[in-house]
Amino acid sequence: MDRFIIRGGQRLSGEIHISGAKNAGLKLMAAGLLTSERLILSNVPQIADIRLMAQLLRQHGIDVTAQDDSGRVLAIGGEVTSIEAPYDIVSKMRASILVLGPLLARMRKARVSLPGGCAIGTRPVDMHLRGLEAMGAKISLENGYIHASAPKGLQGDKIVLPFASVGATENLLMAATLAKGRTEIINAAREPEISDLATCLNRMGARITGLGTGSLIIDGVDALHGAEHAIMPDRIECGTYACAAGITGGDVLLVGGQLQDFGAAIQSFEECGVEVSAAPGGIRVRRDQPLRGVDIMTEPFPGFPTDMQAQFMAMLSIAEGASMITETIFENRFMHVPELNRMGAHINVHKSSAIIRGVSRLSGAPVMATDLRASFSLILAGLAAEGETSVSRVYHLDRGYEKVDEKLAAIGADIARITGDS
Ligand code: EPZ
Repeated sequence: MDRFIIRGGQRLSGEIHISGAKNAGLKLMAAGLLTSERLILSNVPQIADIRLMAQLLRQHGIDVTAQDDSGRVLAIGGEVTSIEAPYDIVSKMRASILVLGPLLARMRKARVSLPGGCAIGTRPVDMHLRGLEAMGAKISLENGYIHASAPKGLQGDKIVLPFASVGATENLLMAATLAKGRTEIINAAREPEISDLATCLNRMGARITGLGTGSLIIDGVDALHGAEHAIMPDRIECGTYACAAGITGGDVLLVGGQLQDFGAAIQSFEECGVEVSAAPGGIRVRRDQPLRGVDIMTEPFPGFPTDMQAQFMAMLSIAEGASMITETIFENRFMHVPELNRMGAHINVHKSSAIIRGVSRLSGAPVMATDLRASFSLILAGLAAEGETSVSRVYHLDRGYEKVDEKLAAIGADIARITGDS
């Protein structure tokens, strides 16, 4: 297994190119199941989760082919030959559940393994299933699989989500494009990745309005057709590198980044002394004053994103004064805290809140994390720490961040990927 070795203390400056968004790309690929014509996606990030989604689609019978050597343009299309999403893939990547809505809408039946819990929480899919049932699907759970069928097709309905779930909104949105009549999703999640998905679906012939709002209205059509779509830039990758500039007192241009996608995180950056501003070609991030403690609560978009919580915590661990981070989306998303504390941070967790008492220095240590964002928070801590930090379990990072070592080294970080040991 690979690991990263980081020698901290370098101030980062220069340009980082932001890749296409993982959490948009995965759903856009699943949308390819809705038509036999070709969906051409560009700006596809080169990360493990995208490769896994391609594997899942291929085993459904769909062709997924790279259009050039870069692999950044994928053509997706073909006939569905299997309606089953097997346990061995779904258990590796929860986003696999997003094939359920499209398969059910196009094939009128689907069998998808239940994802089960993961490192950050129990993560049930009850809202996905209840919404599909409201649209007329018959659903049963057998042998660890969701069996769903709608022999006469799905029927539009008004669905009120009890919580603005990203995945449930996306599954129901895709299913509704081919349902009979009108579907309204009330209390829909408003994450920018959902608008990106809806924009692509409309290019494929869907009739969706209310993009970017909590009420999505979908008028079902008989069939969708092929389209071309460029995946939006990854706002979480962008925010993560903004934290890298912030924690090192750097000055970085995040090329392709879109400030409006930061939502409430803009204010949090500014309150803690990190300047973020729209610049030609992207977002400029710099810090030339001491970091200050801030209070943060994670919330659905446009609130502060849970996917930035761990990275912000690393930054706040060396801020002046105390900070409090309250995690409201996932029940177990503080697994990075003990590792940050091993590097000299002073963080206490009480239920869903973490109190971070800023320290003047972190010290390098061997560390490991259990999920993608937590792993990056340790890299960030390593960039600011004295001495050497070794971050193992790099496969978590490979799932969602493209070329971490190359991107950071290009702006002055002392980081190397060591291949083959643990
Ligand atoms: C998406 O997960 C993202 N994943 C997550 O990113 C992100 O953290 C999350 O949205 C919140 O922004 C992808 O896009 C692939 P939810 P998702 O449904 O769709 C509960 C990352 O690091 N819930 O909004 O699974 C659920 O347990 C990842 O890139 C139910 O109770 O998120 C959670 O507590 C991690 N029942 C909360 O809602 C349901 O049916 C939010 O989940 C569905 C969700």
